Amino acid sequence: MSNHRLPPAVAFEAAENEGSNTTSGPTMGDLVAERLSRRDLVKGLAAVAVAAELIWPDALNAAPGTSAPAPSTGETAADASRFSFTELAVSPDSPTHHVAEGYDADVLIRWGDAVLADAPPFAPGKPDAAAQRLQYGYNNDFLGYVPIDRRSDHGLLVVNHEFTNGELMFPGLAPRSDKNADFQAVTREVADAEMMAHGGSVLEIRRADGKWNVVAGSKFARRITAETPMDISGPAAGHARMKTSADPSGTRVLGMINNCAGGITPWGTWLTCEENFNGYFWGKAAAEPITPEARALRRYGTPAEWYAWGRYHDRFDTLKEPNEPNRFGWVVEIDPFDPRSTPVKRTAMGRFKHEGAGNIVNGDGRFVVYQGDDERFDYVYRFVTDGKVDAENRDANKTLLDHGELCVARFHPDGSGEWLPLVHGRPNKDGQVWLSEQNGFQNQGEVLIHARLAADLLGATRMDRPEDIEVNPRNGKVYLALTNNSKRKPDGTDAANPRGPNTFGHIIELTPTGGDHAAPTFTWDILLKCGSPDIADVGASFNPATSANGWFAMPDNFAVDADGRLWVATDGNDAHRTGRHDGIWAIETEGANRGVARCFFQVPVGAEMCGPCFTPDLETFFVAVQHPGETPDDAATPSTFEAPLTRWPDFQDGMPPRPAIVAITRKGGGRIAS
Ligand code: FEO
Ligand code: CA
Ligand code: CA
Repeated sequence: MSNHRLPPAVAFEAAENEGSNTTSGPTMGDLVAERLSRRDLVKGLAAVAVAAELIWPDALNAAPGTSAPAPSTGETAADASRFSFTELAVSPDSPTHHVAEGYDADVLIRWGDAVLADAPPFAPGKPDAAAQRLQYGYNNDFLGYVPIDRRSDHGLLVVNHEFTNGELMFPGLAPRSDKNADFQAVTREVADAEMMAHGGSVLEIRRADGKWNVVAGSKFARRITAETPMDISGPAAGHARMKTSADPSGTRVLGMINNCAGGITPWGTWLTCEENFNGYFWGKAAAEPITPEARALRRYGTPAEWYAWGRYHDRFDTLKEPNEPNRFGWVVEIDPFDPRSTPVKRTAMGRFKHEGAGNIVNGDGRFVVYQGDDERFDYVYRFVTDGKVDAENRDANKTLLDHGELCVARFHPDGSGEWLPLVHGRPNKDGQVWLSEQNGFQNQGEVLIHARLAADLLGATRMDRPEDIEVNPRNGKVYLALTNNSKRKPDGTDAANPRGPNTFGHIIELTPTGGDHAAPTFTWDILLKCGSPDIADVGASFNPATSANGWFAMPDNFAVDADGRLWVATDGNDAHRTGRHDGIWAIETEGANRGVARCFFQVPVGAEMCGPCFTPDLETFFVAVQHPGETPDDAATPSTFEAPLTRWPDFQDGMPPRPAIVAITRKGGGRIAS
């Protein structure tokens, strides 16, 4: 690998490929609150369970006199497809994006476009941190739409900017994996511009005459960066392991990094999830003593040395600030309606490589967040708040996420499963206390900071890279994307991770016991094993009615639309792996069509598909095109600023490829795929 210069996304993949789990255990301002009337909530709570996505867009958008479709019982009256669109032919090598016939797919905003009113115009090839902190960041991932005044044509769009590809952004840089060889070219100007291109954006958007636009000079507009001051709250706040020389209180931190997917709460806040934070730290010790700190750093793959920020900012050097990495790897809650609000890192939800925060309001009113830890052989988590969602008083939900129980999943071979509480000092059902001082955990703060180590002790199931996990509000099912795991050995498989190696990933469907998302147990089933159905050895399990365009691999993020239909965005399909780009596929989950998939959208070459997100009326489908033009891992020559694989979406000489949001609408209007 050392001779192979890897672009960041490939470096992430390679690192996740190693896996750091060496255990061998079994295997809206007040807007939203105003709109959620007590009546809506109570009505919702009477149902089996109520997803945030259900309460919220439906409560906001159901036209007077109409009622939402009844929750599915798992059987459809007729086995007709639930999706109505003409399938897109997949492309193996296209410089641009493609959408199914009859739809428009228009770029809404690109890297470098203005977010704040005083942003200067984008200047290709010139690293400028001051400009970048006002402009749209790089590598858009999660997208969340928050309606304004119940509207599906006017709202806030929140966006994560996960990471940067310096080699495509600026001249003279190589896709890098070697600190000594490649970091020399990273000037302070480049490093600081990269830091400003991370984080997130809040955009006010409006649809007029069928077309979406970002509202210029919006009072909601905001850029969050790797330097935005944030609070740390919950049981790990102020912990000794959270203190640094810049923050002796252990309660304030600058910025969020590598924010991958996320979620929107029913009270209209944005949950944005720090994933591969380890890559931003350097300071590998030559000979490391095996201290508890060193063991914990290693379990989190820190420092991975993928970025040169540590050269200019001591806090990213673990030899100088050993606790700074403990302040990353959290779920951050942000109020998009108040650009002056301080983002909060919610430590009660645990520290790991968070993919996203799929959520639901449980039948008893408590808030439940499902979470994947995206690394080979890592775990699936669930967080249940102690308190209930208050639908009348938005402010009452302000600290809801600071108190609750984090659990990790164990999948049994018989299709059952259990949630194991990560609670310091609590005996398990056999009366044993694993999370104790004796086993290296002084208190609950430490259990959360080192959640992976705690989960190792409890014997959680080592999974094939848990990515997104989302709830279907129509039937209470929970979908889990396991993107791939090339390191799983043939003799290391288990029922929930049945292929070794797992080159193409799979999707698991969980059913909470009794429809209770806080229950200690669940059942599970494999919805799909991905990869080509034409190659018997691959062991894919698509429904035979799936066409050659319909199969995919490397499932990453889900959108469950307001009709309870499942859409998947992929990360890792390319010409040599699967003969298709990443994109969006629609998946049937019920009846005789269960397991049929159809292609709806394809990204340009080198890109990954992110951010699938619908407006509540299902008339717009927002997707995020991440790292267009990035070097495929089998390429002989790197794709760079000077010679990129594509110049999507501008296609102008001298203009680099630019990550962008695409708004998909039906020509002539109407609901997507209906
Ligand atoms: Fe950032 Fe797990 O993908
Ligand atoms: Ca992802
Ligand atoms: Ca991924």
